[in-house]
Amino acid sequence: MRAKAIYPGSFDPLTNGHLDLIERGAKIFDHLVVAILQNSEKAPPLFSVPERVEMLTEAIEGLGLDNVSVATFRGLLVEFATQQHARAILRGIRAISDYEYELQMALMNRRLAPGVETVFLMSAEKYSYLSSRLIKNVFELGGSVEGLVPQTVIHRLEARAAKR
Ligand code: PNS
Repeated sequence: MRAKAIYPGSFDPLTNGHLDLIERGAKIFDHLVVAILQNSEKAPPLFSVPERVEMLTEAIEGLGLDNVSVATFRGLLVEFATQQHARAILRGIRAISDYEYELQMALMNRRLAPGVETVFLMSAEKYSYLSSRLIKNVFELGGSVEGLVPQTVIHRLEARAAKR
């Protein structure tokens, strides 16, 4: 059986830490679906869902990963995973501080869908402090995020800054 996994998240914006995890996941699973949550409780988003789809698609194409696709979902993650016939949910752990939140989600998801396993991968240590929240904060205050997010995100951030 071919193993398919879902890598869910907000990706607002996509960071090099996410891309690092996508590359690792693509080596383990036959197919990886990067899934953007549409009805996030985190408000307000910096980029719209279609913009995030475009940035992820461009970055994944840039890496030449042909077993990775991009999708969006709303509602329960495990329902989306089941619809997709995915056997696993992929999540990244950066530091011990991520663990409690991730453990809660993984156990709740297991209760809801015992057939779907959560697989954790450690992100590269050079990106271990990186988060979309920090990128947004640094960008909004005029700091450089060069080297921390893919070029496609830099271009869109610059376009945003130019409109201000
Ligand atoms: O990038 P994020 O914000 O850490 O991703 C969080 C995400 C999208 C994985 C999580 O919020 C999620 O799965 N939301 C979907 C709703 C759901 O299934 N809730 C129950 C999970 S315990």
